[in-house]
Amino acid sequence: MKRTAHVASAPAKVILFGEHFVVYGTPALLAAINRRTTAKARIRDDDKIIIKSDIGASAEYTKTGFKILQGGRKAKAILDPIHDAIRRARGEHRQSTGLQVELKSDIPYGIGLGSSAASCVASIAAVDSLFDSHGKNWICDRAMESERIIHKNSSGADCHVSTYGGIMQYSKDEGSKKIKAGKQLRLVVSSTGILHSTGSLVERVRKFREANQRKFVGLSEQADMICAKALQAIELGNIETLGLLMTENQQLLKQIGVSHSKAEALITLSLQAGALGAKITGAGGGGAVIALARSRKDSANIATSTRKQGYETIEVQIDCEGLVLGS
Ligand code: PMV
Repeated sequence: MKRTAHVASAPAKVILFGEHFVVYGTPALLAAINRRTTAKARIRDDDKIIIKSDIGASAEYTKTGFKILQGGRKAKAILDPIHDAIRRARGEHRQSTGLQVELKSDIPYGIGLGSSAASCVASIAAVDSLFDSHGKNWICDRAMESERIIHKNSSGADCHVSTYGGIMQYSKDEGSKKIKAGKQLRLVVSSTGILHSTGSLVERVRKFREANQRKFVGLSEQADMICAKALQAIELGNIETLGLLMTENQQLLKQIGVSHSKAEALITLSLQAGALGAKITGAGGGGAVIALARSRKDSANIATSTRKQGYETIEVQIDCEGLVLGS
């Protein structure tokens, strides 16, 4: 058991293709991006688990309950899966000592960029390394279990990409497989400013599927086909085709009811500014939009144009490292 603080960090992600349909078994394509959450864990002398995060949510968990230190009721929803992750990691080492975990993040929260998965992955890794290190597969599996606290149908895609990094194909049955891109992907991520709850959007799609079973099967087949073509386009570096496929994927997301007028406005704006394609990323219902740019200049133009309209936009690069241990 180590008394010094241990640090781990994990990246944010975008879903390039296949969100929502991945919950029902079709593959998705994801990419880790260069935004991170860093978790610093240390042993406490009591039996409390204290989580402090720089997004304004902090809480103290004891055997009998919890106390919000910062952030009100919203803090509980954010911190519960992280608390579960920390307890899980500690429990598997058969330890019961108190722990303090401090989280620092530059991942925008609640817009589909995987901030929750990155926090779980980084926290588990930091706590794990206090006792002994299990390795990435173990950490990813534990993080997936904790993520299911927020929405029980979670596909697990976010945890995989945050743990292993890079660009990957993910499916519930087959797990993740890294993809080598033939050309650098330049992505521009803009926020609608509307925070979403992944759990309720997944539930909205579940109801849509229940009420439109035949239609959903057809849409899933289309999503599957788009993913297969997109995989090929990424490997061949055919970014024009990739852009068109992104916009095609967006039409499916619109049909299952997870787009939003602000997301549509951002997509139009990005395409008018020269994007090769654009779509929502993640659960939708607001959240974030990704746009694919042909060049660095186009990427800057798209960002300028969305920022001019008051949207928060970041130009991102692919993170190839995934989970990193140490500061
Ligand atoms: O939490 P988000 O916004 O990154 O969305 C997760 C992606 C979904 O496909 C909607 C759900 C899932 O579990 O894969």
